[in-house]
Amino acid sequence: MSIVYYNGEFCDFSEVRIPLTDRCVFFGDGIYDAAIGKDGGVYLEREHIDRFFGNAERMKIKLSLSKEELSALLREVIKRNDFKRYFLYFQLTRTLGERRHSYTDESGSSLLITVKKHAFEDRKLKLITAEDIRYRMCNVKTLNLLPAVIASTEAEEKGCDEAVFIRNGIVTECAHSNICIVKGGVLYTHPEGPLILPGVTRRRVLYFCEKLGIPYAEREFTKEDLFTADEILVTSTTKLCAKVEEIDGIKVGKSGAKSVADAIISSLREDFESPCC
Ligand code: PDD
Repeated sequence: MSIVYYNGEFCDFSEVRIPLTDRCVFFGDGIYDAAIGKDGGVYLEREHIDRFFGNAERMKIKLSLSKEELSALLREVIKRNDFKRYFLYFQLTRTLGERRHSYTDESGSSLLITVKKHAFEDRKLKLITAEDIRYRMCNVKTLNLLPAVIASTEAEEKGCDEAVFIRNGIVTECAHSNICIVKGGVLYTHPEGPLILPGVTRRRVLYFCEKLGIPYAEREFTKEDLFTADEILVTSTTKLCAKVEEIDGIKVGKSGAKSVADAIISSLREDFESPCC
């Protein structure tokens, strides 16, 4: 087991006890973020911490530490464990008395930080499609993840890696990743807004598109576009960037086409491997 941080204390993962006054129990009343790192550092730390603070503010959950203090805590958790490469998870939940829907000014908050070993898997992904039955607040990283949990399990039961959500014929994102397609040398990804999480990795992919001179558009695309794309890329903190080989059992992607995806994948990996992380 690993050492975690919970409300001012460091202890073994198995020893954390979440009280019923924590509203994550009844309402999933909390937000979280997740990052990866190596050798004591955190990759794209500022982006993850900024998103975490932005979500806390948006959900009006009190945060009693600064961004610098959170950064120091993340590093302390990393130090107390023995992983060279790791996945960090941090969540902030609202706490207050007995179960009632609304909260008051008296509400407090709980901060949990966990870490586990992480390694990239270098392989192409298999996806299933699923109806996007989620709400219109997908841009906030809250704990309300039931549709993603169900779709991810369905994907796994079918021997697949991810479920790609389709809302009214439009591809939004995956259960726990963003998605881009490449068509005619242009990379397309759903625009930011209430229907997708503004992924830190997605943003980094667009940054590298700019750097590498790859044209891109943050524009809606359809399920048909997905199945006829030259290349499909799934992006997330844990995977960085991975190519897709199959959706719903159908091979996708045009073989022989000059790969835009490969250049992006290696740029992100080099970025992660660089000493600044
Ligand atoms: N998932 N979309 C959804 C719904 C996600 O849950 C995630 C991340 C992403 C990718 O965002 P980012 O690049 O910032 O990781 C997109 C994380 C890893 C998780 O829940 O564990």
